[in-house]
Amino acid sequence: MSDSKILKTGLALVALCVLPRPALAADSPAPTFAKDVAPIFQAKCEACHRPDNMAPMSLQTYDEARPWAKSIAQRVGARQMPPWHIDKTVGIQKFKNDRSLTDDQVDTIIRWVNAGAPKGDPKDMPPPVKWTDDTKEWSLQAKYGQPDLLVKSPEYTMPAVAQDAWWRPNVPTNLSEPRWVRAIEIRPVGKNARKITHHALAFLRQVEKDMPKELLSNDPNVAGEGLFMEWAVGKNGDEMRPDSGRLMLPGSSITWEMHYHAVGEEISAHTELALWFYPKGQEPKHREVLGLFNTFSAPPGVSLPNAQPLDIAPNSVTTTESFVTLKENARIENFQAHMHLRGKGMSMEAIYPDGKRETLSQVTDFNFNWHNMYIYADDVAPLLPKGTMLHFIAWYDNTRNNKSNPDPDQWVGWGDRTVDEMGHAWLNITYYNDADFKAEQAKRSAAKTTTTAGAQQDR
Ligand code: HEC
Repeated sequence: MSDSKILKTGLALVALCVLPRPALAADSPAPTFAKDVAPIFQAKCEACHRPDNMAPMSLQTYDEARPWAKSIAQRVGARQMPPWHIDKTVGIQKFKNDRSLTDDQVDTIIRWVNAGAPKGDPKDMPPPVKWTDDTKEWSLQAKYGQPDLLVKSPEYTMPAVAQDAWWRPNVPTNLSEPRWVRAIEIRPVGKNARKITHHALAFLRQVEKDMPKELLSNDPNVAGEGLFMEWAVGKNGDEMRPDSGRLMLPGSSITWEMHYHAVGEEISAHTELALWFYPKGQEPKHREVLGLFNTFSAPPGVSLPNAQPLDIAPNSVTTTESFVTLKENARIENFQAHMHLRGKGMSMEAIYPDGKRETLSQVTDFNFNWHNMYIYADDVAPLLPKGTMLHFIAWYDNTRNNKSNPDPDQWVGWGDRTVDEMGHAWLNITYYNDADFKAEQAKRSAAKTTTTAGAQQDR
């Protein structure tokens, strides 16, 4: 760093400490919509905020965005928008589907609003993003052709005015033989379907015969089912990692969970799941499985819901924890926290066989309305040797401070209803035998050495 740079940084720090913000902003020209804000909205908001999509308003043009400026500053400043609740101060931070804003982007948006949300020179506007009409075409269709299997949920009609609905129909896949999945996509279908579909989840249910139960769950009641795909926009399609796949068995079914909300007009919708398979006879080397890990401990041999392991006192903040020892070498592909209205946060820590501990991920500002799946980037997805212990902690806020809390004076226990509680993490896991795991580890450290060497050369 040059001396003048150090000096400037120093001055900037001093300025930050002593000057009120508007004076600081005056130094640099105020950001404009055309030049500075539109590119951010294109990258991080339009996936949902465009006509006929899930968000209440479009943010594509200045005229559309301007009336929302104040609300935008609030939601963006509080990091409620875009919805992304992973704690940015701990754990892995590189995800395949990251839709969060950088600190600089948040700063730009807030300075833009504080400066009166100027339009700027229309010539600075980036060309509009061409969104493929994914109501008509699958985004993975160009690459894989028509899906090999299409599973549809039954039609649901949401009245113009109604309470939010969580709907969970079950639909058989009608598969007569096992098939390996290499890509999945999901979408709500129907005129204005996206307006009422807040989220859509597809769970794969099947009886696992060859996969030991303890590799799939720490809950004796659960085996062979799990979250398959979610629609919550930003990323509708999922391709498996190289030479990896998910296995769908004959007799399997899809359990849907749709969160619908009324928008002032009657709308009918359903959801479709498209699956592309590896060709028959071509088995990928690695199988990705769906794991459900409870974040509380039930006494050994006692199954839910008899154990009532979740017992949250009125007007209290409670934590629960659980430990799961991995029986096989594993790569964790994603982290997804599942709780209900009192859920506040969840962390996943690895305690390695040598005793070293590492927080892998933490959701601190959990919001039941957003079932975010945090999919690790290829070069950081945790590689955990067998014998590693996963340590989960879940936080529940059953006080008035929790804005989602319907009644802080209630005792809350485990249960299916939204007003009851749950606590588990959904993990997609690839298990490895010792030789393959060593190879994965070697690949990872080779990649690391190259980047470090590259960085050193840069200096
Ligand atoms: C994953 C989809 C998604 C993304 C990405 C997203 N939003 Fe939203 N946004 C929504 C939905 C759905 C709502 C309405 C429900 C709610 O308020 O949570 C909403 C609500 C809002 C609101 C509140 C509107 C009101 O009624 O006052 C603002 C402001 C907002 N979004 C701004 C943004 C901005 C700015 C970005 C990008 C930086 C963004 N959102 C990214 C889905 C999204």
